[in-house]
Order: sequence, then C-alpha cells, then structure tokens
Amino acid sequence: MTATYTIESFIGEVKEILASDGSSETGLNKIAERMKVLARHPELAGDEPMGNIHTGSQSKPLYVDDSGLILVRAKFGPEAMTPIHSHGSWGVIGVYQGRDQYQVWRRNDDGTGAGDADVEMVEERILEQGDAVVLPPPPQDIHAQRGYDGEPTYEYVLFGANTMILPRLYFDPEQSSAKEVLPGQR
Ligand SMILES: [Fe+2]
Repeated sequence: MTATYTIESFIGEVKEILASDGSSETGLNKIAERMKVLARHPELAGDEPMGNIHTGSQSKPLYVDDSGLILVRAKFGPEAMTPIHSHGSWGVIGVYQGRDQYQVWRRNDDGTGAGDADVEMVEERILEQGDAVVLPPPPQDIHAQRGYDGEPTYEYVLFGANTMILPRLYFDPEQSSAKEVLPGQR
C-alpha cells in the first residue's frame, strides 16, 4: 500500500533536509526537489478563497510553526508584473497551476535594507506547472513575476521565516532605491 502524500509529508521531508543541510545552497536545492513533488498535488492547496500575496489579502497558511517555517498559496494574475521585491527570507516556490513569467533580480551594492539599492535583472524564465525555484537567503531573495500568457498562475511558497509579518523591500531600478513595505501595504 502506498502512503497518501499530504502537506504533512512534504513538511516532514523539509524538516529532515533542514536538520541535515540547513538553508545552505545544497539544502535549498534538495527542498526544491521535494517542492516539485508537492507541485504535482494541486488538490492539497484546498479550495479556500485566495488573495494576492502582494496586496495583503492572504489566505490562511497551509502550514506554519514557531520556527517561522511557513507554507502558503499564492495567485499571480497576468495583468502586470508584481513589484520587484524581496521578503526577508529564503523561500522555495512551486507552480501547481498555470505558468509563471518569473524574473530573478540581483542586488549589486553591499546594502541589505531600504535606501540606495542597485539592482539588475539576471534571469527571466517561464516556470511550468511542476517547476520549482529557490529564493536565496536575503539580501538576494529579489524577484518579480506574473501569470504568463494571459492566465493566472497558482503556487505553493515555502518560506524559512514568517514573511506574513516581516517587512518586505520594493525595489525601483530606475531610481536605484528600495523602500520597506509591511505585508498588507502597497
Ligand atoms: Fe514574492
């Protein structure tokens, strides 16, 4: 008999990886492999109404604990890219429905917070259903995204710290600046 795969199965695997490898590059890449499995289980996302992770109307996390580890669902519409932003935590994203036009940005100065910030886009790719990507630890957890080709995309996002309460940074590459924004603010 095959055991049923659940959110708890995924979280158990994540905790084992974090215990042995931490949030090193190796650890996060291993978690991304597990995230690809979770992303093939859209039914585990449930059917609660879902808000946009970047406007603050978030749905209840699928998992959260005292260590800060948190698993949420996110929906990104096709209308416009999100702001170029960071969450203040490593993360792993897995697409469970639709496709994601996903941009990786890099901060080239030695800053970590708001104020002057020199950022450039280093990669843009289309994430397909079942793909997973790693958000590296801050300050390089910078990205932007939207649903690709006129359709929304739906994702699982695992963060190492509770990003629902941590301030985020929104970057303006034209002005070479970053501003701090609390979740729920624009
Ligand atoms: Fe994000």
